Amino acid sequence: MAHLLIKFGGGLITDKGKLMSVDYNAIDKLSAMTRQLLDEGHIVTIVHGAGSFGHLKAKEWKLALGADEAILSEQNHAVSEVRADMILLNSIICDSLNKHGVETNSHPPSTWASETGPEFIGNIDRFTNSSSQIVNVTFGDVVDCRAPKHFGILSGDDLMVRIGKEISDISHAIFLLGDTEGVLSAPPDNPDAALIDIWHRGDQVMGRHDSEMDVTGGIFLKVRSAELIAEVVEDVWLIDGRKPKRVLQLVESKATIGTRVTI
Ligand code: IPE
Repeated sequence: MAHLLIKFGGGLITDKGKLMSVDYNAIDKLSAMTRQLLDEGHIVTIVHGAGSFGHLKAKEWKLALGADEAILSEQNHAVSEVRADMILLNSIICDSLNKHGVETNSHPPSTWASETGPEFIGNIDRFTNSSSQIVNVTFGDVVDCRAPKHFGILSGDDLMVRIGKEISDISHAIFLLGDTEGVLSAPPDNPDAALIDIWHRGDQVMGRHDSEMDVTGGIFLKVRSAELIAEVVEDVWLIDGRKPKRVLQLVESKATIGTRVTI
């Protein structure tokens, strides 16, 4: 029996460039995968990203940088909006899981976490779970921060790190991506880009950060987060989330197409 910690990347479950557009088809495939993992007796914990439900408004009002006196009332409005948008995206994901017979328990970070980065404040014990009947779900969110910041963006990748490191029975930590098969040797639109099968901590790659809309750090934060988790979790992977069968294959046969991150 495995306990899988799985991140549904925001670019997988939404169209990142188009405000609040959900990819229902991708989400349903992930729900079917989750159902199958539970049927096989495994435990699943899900973290999901924001995609176009968070990044665009967060970018517009510079929420990741914290409070800015000059635009504070607009920012406060945007904080409430992004939190509400994330609750909506979370309910869409949970509805799909429920439709597949998966019972969920949601943990919106704005209600239990504060500060940003992998050292954020919040008790991770809530993700202790020994049952394959219920799935804990959490997500990247706007959280409260100490003055003068007042608020900031807690990425789902940081939640992955803390849950992966602190919940002792996690056997697999998997980042599901929306636009690539794993870590590539060059940006995905480069014809020479090849999949890196094994990533050792500290490896370097040529890359691109889409700073136009991503407020939390793109693929590099994922790899860095994966390296941290690999300190304690055996199987840490970045996998193409458009092909959820690869997750099932990984659990069954201990290998699949994707990037395995090791220390
Ligand atoms: C970002 O979370 C949260 C907000 C912008 C509110 P993530 O960093 O986990 O989201 P994705 O996976 O990159 O979309």
